[in-house]
Amino acid sequence: MISTKIGELINQQITKEQYAAQYYLSMSAWFSARDLDGIANYFRVQSKEELMHADKMFDYLNDVGGEIVIGEIPQPPHEFTSATDVFEKALEHEKIVTKSIFNILKNANEEGDFATVSFLQWFVNEQVEEEASASQLVTKIKMVSDNPSALYLFDQELAQRVFTPDPAN
Ligand SMILES: [Fe+2]
Ligand SMILES: [Fe+2]
Repeated sequence: MISTKIGELINQQITKEQYAAQYYLSMSAWFSARDLDGIANYFRVQSKEELMHADKMFDYLNDVGGEIVIGEIPQPPHEFTSATDVFEKALEHEKIVTKSIFNILKNANEEGDFATVSFLQWFVNEQVEEEASASQLVTKIKMVSDNPSALYLFDQELAQRVFTPDPAN
């Protein structure tokens, strides 16, 4: 049985993952509007992944007998100053999510809630990957953003990304 406090933190995290999905969808729309459909695809896939993260937490909370309370998702920003700005905001956002997951983990540890500690390990690893790829994309977009043919190739590269559902689910 999960404590009220950890249950609340996980409920909030479900909303945060759903917010991240909305935020990435907003980023995807920004690129679609500029005919950079490959980059738009990348963020669309990213958005789906965030929904999968929310589902994972939903299922966990249900499994441990917590009460699921679906929260309100705030509207994400939709104005960006440049392609680089979008990628920088994506990285910034991943760092916020990492902190939030670490905070749940810290509380779960303090309570001796080792089921939640173990569950969150997947997310800790996921955030390491998310931050690494977001950071790499910031570097890449800075290299190509002022060069149309390089940007074209970068867009083609990101068009390759496909959504793969979590095999554990
Ligand atoms: Fe996530
Ligand atoms: Fe993420």
